[in-house]
Amino acid sequence: MDWIRFNEPYGNEEIFKRATETSRRSLFESDIIEEMLQRRLSSIDLYSGETSPFFMQSGTAALEVMALAMDFKPGDEVIIPSFTYPATANAFQRAGATIVFADIESDTCNLDPKSVERAVTGKTRAIVPIHYGGVTADISSLQELASKSGAFFLEDAAHCIGASYKGGALGTFGTMGAISFHSSKNITSSGLGGCLFVNDGNLRDIVSEIIYQGTDRVAYREGRVSSYRWKRPGGEYQMPAFSMAYLEASLGRLDEVTRRRREIWHMYHDKLSNLEAEGDLRLCRVPESAGINGHVFYTLVNGRQERDNLKAHLHERRIEAFTHYEPLHDTSIGRSAGRCEGEMSVTNSVAGRILRLPMHMGLKDEDIDRVCSAIDEYMG
Ligand SMILES: Cc1ncc(COP(=O)(O)O)c(C=O)c1O
Repeated sequence: MDWIRFNEPYGNEEIFKRATETSRRSLFESDIIEEMLQRRLSSIDLYSGETSPFFMQSGTAALEVMALAMDFKPGDEVIIPSFTYPATANAFQRAGATIVFADIESDTCNLDPKSVERAVTGKTRAIVPIHYGGVTADISSLQELASKSGAFFLEDAAHCIGASYKGGALGTFGTMGAISFHSSKNITSSGLGGCLFVNDGNLRDIVSEIIYQGTDRVAYREGRVSSYRWKRPGGEYQMPAFSMAYLEASLGRLDEVTRRRREIWHMYHDKLSNLEAEGDLRLCRVPESAGINGHVFYTLVNGRQERDNLKAHLHERRIEAFTHYEPLHDTSIGRSAGRCEGEMSVTNSVAGRILRLPMHMGLKDEDIDRVCSAIDEYMG
């Protein structure tokens, strides 16, 4: 029996060929390839609106630039989930903010607005949800809380290429939003990659300085200044030329990838709903406002031991399944980074019960049947 792998990075001969031709023709001339990539992205309906994408070396780099652009002062607080990748916390902590961990909702594993409301203080500078697995957080409630408290609404949309909220792309609702093109994501830029959407005119100039060593090189390139100078702390964050070429070619397939991943997501959901009805496991509740991208399909089972046993059962049947984030607040660095709002009981519970099932473009319908039958068999 063949293994059913958890993930396969997305790519094919045609994408490699186009990426290689683009790189060769432009001799790794970043500015030319970046323009092509910008045009490709804005030709996709979901990304045709008003936003400025900055292509970066990783989703982590996009979050770091986002955090640097906020220019935090000592005592400024940033509210994030604890059920996330350390990149979310690292970016804001390193930029000088105090981290406040809020709890999540078990229906979506996304920030719970009620916990965020309790977490807000006079020092809150930003509220930053992730949209777990490409399923939107409750954007309208979180945006309202941000505007009531004079804080920024920012998005860690690392999982979200191709995913939407009320028809608009996730990552474009916040003042800034970060996307990842790591090889584990629906579309990759050949390994590592990311993008920062900047939806505010003033911040656009600041971000373009940060990513070019803190200089006004972009203004120089556009003829707005006669030479470029060092103006603020910055670094070298841009996406390498070949990665941009690979992403440009891959984005041409975004609709097809999103369609198939959604189909797989719904197949899992339909086939496992009986077990949910019997109380053996829980599935994600997708809000009506969400356009999912099928980035992650997960189940929540009834406890950590049960989850680990199910994972081992699938492994014996040559099926790879993975747990996910261990809560950030429950680590010594997490404790020193800031504080928690409340007991974090949903976060603690979800982290011990979650199991992610295989999800990638190489899966065949029979593979989904095999995974679901193996789960059925385990549940008896
Ligand atoms: C929620 C979240 N934020 C940020 C990142 C970092 O993205 P990257 O791996 O592209 O640096 C990840 C990575 O998977 C993530 O899951």
